[in-house]
Amino acid sequence: MNNFEYCNPVKIVFGKGQIAKLKELVPKDAKILMTYGGGSIKKNGVYDQVKDALQSFEVLEFGGIEPNPQYSTLMKAVDLVKKENVTFLLAVGGGSTLDGTKFIAAASKYQGEDPWDILEKGVPVTDAIPIGDVITLPATGSEMNGFAVISKKETTEKLAFYSTAVFPQFSIIDPSVTFSLPLKQVANGIADTFVHVVEQYVTQPFNAPLQDRQAEALLLALVDEAPKVFANPDDYDTRANLFWMATQALNGWLNVGTVQCWAIHGIGHELTAQTGVDHGQSLALVLPGVWRSQRKEKGEKIVQLGRRVFGITEQDFDAAIDATIEATKNFFKSLGIEATRANYGVTDEVCQKVAALIDSRNVKMGDRANIDGAKIIEILNLCD
Ligand code: NZQ
Ligand code: ZN
Repeated sequence: MNNFEYCNPVKIVFGKGQIAKLKELVPKDAKILMTYGGGSIKKNGVYDQVKDALQSFEVLEFGGIEPNPQYSTLMKAVDLVKKENVTFLLAVGGGSTLDGTKFIAAASKYQGEDPWDILEKGVPVTDAIPIGDVITLPATGSEMNGFAVISKKETTEKLAFYSTAVFPQFSIIDPSVTFSLPLKQVANGIADTFVHVVEQYVTQPFNAPLQDRQAEALLLALVDEAPKVFANPDDYDTRANLFWMATQALNGWLNVGTVQCWAIHGIGHELTAQTGVDHGQSLALVLPGVWRSQRKEKGEKIVQLGRRVFGITEQDFDAAIDATIEATKNFFKSLGIEATRANYGVTDEVCQKVAALIDSRNVKMGDRANIDGAKIIEILNLCD
C-alpha cells in the first residue's frame, strides 16, 4: 500500500425525522443562507421541515441552483453572502445544490481576482464559510467529501475542485425525502454510485485486499438493492440502504493507499458540458468504452469484478472481460438507462471537441495517465 493520510470530519445524522435536529447542529449565533435548487424541496415538504427547525435563526434564502451548477448563478449567491455577512451556508437539495454551495463557500472567502481560477487553475482553497446540508438525492457522495463540480456554460466547461475547507460540518440524510425523486434520478444515482466504486477499484492489480473487498461489498449490495427500489419504490429500508451506499462510495475509504482512475468521470463531465447529458447517464455511456480501450491495463481487475460481483464463470480471460462489460451494461439497462451515443447526442463532432479540449489542457486521464485526446476518441467509438 502507498502511504496515506485520511481525514473525514463530516458528522452524518441519518434517518427518519432527523431534519428537526438542524437546530442543534447549526452554530447558535449563525446567520444562515439556505441554498436550494429548482424547487423540489417546496413540493415534497423538505423546505417546510427546514424552516420549522430553524425558527429561532436568521435565515436568508438563495434558490435556483441548477443541475450541473452554473458559475454565473453561484456568483450571485457570493454577492449576497458578502452583502449580508452570512456566517453559515445550509445546502438543501441534491449534489448540485451542495456542490454549488461548496463553491459559494470558497468563492466568498477567495482573495484573488476571479474565483473561477479555483477550478481552472487549481488555486488551492484554504478558507471557506462553514457548510451544513440536508442532502436529498443519493448519488454523488458530496455529503461526505470535499469535492465540488462546477459548470460554466459560456465556455462549455465542467471542472472539479477539492478542499478539506469545504467538507460539510454535518450532513442530514433522511432517506424518506427520496420518495419524491423521479425514478430517472434514482437510476442516475445508482449508476453514479456504481461508477464511483469502480473508478477506485478497476485500476491495476494492487495488494490491497481490504479495499478490494470493501469495493466488492458495496457493488454486491448495490446490485442486490437496485431492483428493489423499482419494484417497490415506497420501501423505506431500500431507500435507506441505497443512500448509505451512495454516501460511502465516495467518502474516501475505498481508495486509501491505492491508485484511482476517474477517466470515466473526466470524459463524462466533458460530455455533460457539451450536450447536457445527465451525470449518471454520461458515466453509463463512457464506462464500456474505457474498459474496452484499456482492457490490457485494467483486464485483471475487470475480471476480478466480473467473477466476484456478477458471478462470471468464463475461463478464457478475454471472454471474461467481455462478459463483465456486458453484465455491467445490462445492470445499467436494468435501471432503465439506455446509454448510447445517439440517445445522448454524442456526435462525432462532440467527440472531436472533447478530445481537442483535453489536449489543449494538456491533461492525461486514468490511473496510468495514458488517456489523451486521441484515446478519448477511441474510447467514445467503443462505447455503444
Ligand atoms: O433542483 P431541484 O428542484 O431540487 O430538483 C433536483 C434536480 O432536478 C431533483 N431532486 C433532488 N432531490 C430531489 C429531487 N426531486 C425530487 N425529490 C428529491 N428528493 O433531482 C434533479 C437532479 O439533482 P442534482 O442535484 O443535479 O443531482 P445529483 O445529486 O446527481 O448531482 C449531480 C451533480 O453532482 C456532480 C455531478 O457532476 C453533477 O454536477 N458530482 C459531484 C460529486 C462530488 N461532489 O463528489 C461527484 C460526482 O461524481 C459528480 O460529478
Ligand atoms: Zn459521479
